[in-house]
Amino acid sequence: MKDGLEGVVAARTRLSHVDGEAGRLILAGYAVEDLAPDAAFEEVAYLLLNGRLPGPAECAGFARDLAARRALPPAAVEVLRQAAAVRTPPMDALRMAAPLLSLGRAEDPLGDALTAIAAFPAIVGTYWRLRHGEAPAPIRRDLPHAAHYLHQLSGVEPSAERARALETYLNTVCDHGLNASTFTARVIVSTRSDVISAITGALGALKGPLHGGAPGPALDMVLEIGTPERAESVIRARLDRGERLMGFGHRVYRVRDPRADVLAAVAERFYANGGDRDLYRLARSVEAAALRLLRERKPDRRLDTNVEFYTALLLRGLGLPAELFTPTFAVARVLGWSAHCLEQLREGSLIRPQSIYAGPTGLPYQRTST
Ligand code: ACO
Repeated sequence: MKDGLEGVVAARTRLSHVDGEAGRLILAGYAVEDLAPDAAFEEVAYLLLNGRLPGPAECAGFARDLAARRALPPAAVEVLRQAAAVRTPPMDALRMAAPLLSLGRAEDPLGDALTAIAAFPAIVGTYWRLRHGEAPAPIRRDLPHAAHYLHQLSGVEPSAERARALETYLNTVCDHGLNASTFTARVIVSTRSDVISAITGALGALKGPLHGGAPGPALDMVLEIGTPERAESVIRARLDRGERLMGFGHRVYRVRDPRADVLAAVAERFYANGGDRDLYRLARSVEAAALRLLRERKPDRRLDTNVEFYTALLLRGLGLPAELFTPTFAVARVLGWSAHCLEQLREGSLIRPQSIYAGPTGLPYQRTST
């Protein structure tokens, strides 16, 4: 038995293929670096939910359907209001509001999936604005998905460049094989439970720092280092304390995470056009020092840059605070969770592995007298 199910195959999927040795990611047939930078999020969503890219009319109809599902039930807004009043971390607020998407609706796997994908930007945006004493931004059906998310956060229509950068991010991280949160979603729905329950469980799995919670700490490390000359000593000290460097290492990739390349290219373009060039240069120095030291410390385990390092840099460049990094990941990954749930419902059977008992046997029982 492998700890953490490493290397164990637990599902067959047509949604994405993670080739850890070659450093390749295929999304429903397309290489991530070909699809993510140019496709509309709606196209990618259609692709994952239907197994093929849409024609122009299909894409427009699908986008209209998604846009019509953006508004939140009033009960979800009320929960977000109460969560904001006690300054709940945004991932917890999202996890509390997501199950309310099923309020008053009959279970319908595809409808639930579309509603969750469409509504996540409004949940995160509404929460963030309430946390800062602002009224939720109005739901706009005329904006594409990525632009709508930025509008929900800021109340301002984003430039085409900002919307494109976020859209590339959403496309890049929307699905990734049987990662921990997707596995969680598939396990839940494999019992013939509903899609909204599965998505709620997946949110819990995504929150942890070993999965979707890494980009905030990755940015913290870059900011703590502050200047390129300090990179080596700060990272060395962290490794001496036995800490893991957030944004590095991956369970499956033994080479550089291809998503890091896609996001690095977007970040480079974005920072070149008026962003904080110093921060970008600093991050590159931190990455180089981290890779050098990880190679020195763990020569047998290839630890390379993962998607979260450049997620942090790109989302920071878009003006998002670190607290919103993981919820923004969820805005993208809810697509993958949904598509996996539908696939599991169509083709999968109950996921129920076994455990090896490692406790004692034959203990004599005596009733505890009280
Ligand atoms: N920094 C320092 N050391 C590391 C790192 C790291 N980022 N990653 C792994 N190691 C070390 C481990 O401490 C371990 O050392 P040991 O054998 O002396 O105990 C060795 O490398 C092997 O590590 P594993 O735990 O076997 O690696 P695993 O495949 O289980 O973990 C993981 C993968 C969780 C991503 C790990 O690399 C990590 O913690 N990285 C930092 C967190 C992070 O960036 N997470 C985001 C991942 S991407 C995503 O989920 C979207």
